[in-house]
Amino acid sequence: MTIRVADEAGIAAAAAHLKRGEVVAFPTETVYGLGADATQDSAVDKVFAMKGRPNFNPLIVHVANPDWLAGFTQPDERVDVLTRAFWPGPLTLVLSQQPRSPISTQVSPNLDTIAVRQPDHPVAAALLDAVKRPIAAPSANLSGHVSPTTAGHVEADFGAALDITLDGGPCRAGLESTVLDLTADTARILRLGVISASEIESLIGSVEDHWEQSGATLSPGQLHKHYAPSLPIRLNSAAARDGEAFLTFGHAKGATFNLSPTANLTEAAASLYRALRQLDDPSQYTGLAVAPIPDEGIGRAINDRLRRAARGR
Ligand code: TXA
Ligand code: MG
Repeated sequence: MTIRVADEAGIAAAAAHLKRGEVVAFPTETVYGLGADATQDSAVDKVFAMKGRPNFNPLIVHVANPDWLAGFTQPDERVDVLTRAFWPGPLTLVLSQQPRSPISTQVSPNLDTIAVRQPDHPVAAALLDAVKRPIAAPSANLSGHVSPTTAGHVEADFGAALDITLDGGPCRAGLESTVLDLTADTARILRLGVISASEIESLIGSVEDHWEQSGATLSPGQLHKHYAPSLPIRLNSAAARDGEAFLTFGHAKGATFNLSPTANLTEAAASLYRALRQLDDPSQYTGLAVAPIPDEGIGRAINDRLRRAARGR
């Protein structure tokens, strides 16, 4: 059994395991992360190997507070403004790395940048405090699969291959963090998430969208098959066809799974990945029809993930 209660003993065991260079899954407010000590090359290598992740797709480094950045990123006024407003929380910043950074070069191979965030979850915070080192962690799913929002989802992807998964219950937000690149004069959104472009713009001025680019991409992970269940997906469907499961939003007839009967986008985001995992059952359904979801606020991030899931097959 890899799932452990995230009490004091569970967190101490997970911290010891990380310090030994082993891999541990832990909850954040967005999705579960597959963590390794970001300063140990071989530990970081294990994360890539376990996920089956191509090593040109860099990892996010999690920190206990913004002060930790002084040890490995270049100072930037915008970082102070944004971390004060949004950390702990679902905003990842891509920054220039200091030449003598202690972070393993395996975290962002062939790049002089590093992605960082302070997660807003008591278990993640306690783990970082106990380890006292930055934790590199992608989402705790097999590469290309739907991200995990419960410890059971992590277990389903990794089983016995993973020694410890700290159980922090279902993730509150349920969608990955917004990724914002601050390495150029104009900030660029590399991945849509819970925190919107307009919230960021109100603090640091205009922000460019780079999340839907098809050709060369700044965030290598974005090109890939992602968030993908095994069944074919039809988006913006008014109704399901014979044999299809129907994923709906708001008032809808014939729902197999309703993301939010009250048409609340935050609630829909929190249940999206649970729904995709639950409905992805070829023994029951031939495909997945998805009702239209309003393309506003966090609905933009939901639609982004759904498009990638549909395209990924
Ligand atoms: O909410 C989240 O961000 C979760 C939790 C566990 O923190 N983590 C997560 O990690 O979603 P992952 O590895 O699944 O996604 C990281 C994204 C990828 O799209 C990757 O390409 C991008 O961040 N990224 C990481 N480092 C980067 C860098 N140095 N430059 C550009 N993009 C980077
Ligand atoms: Mg991921």
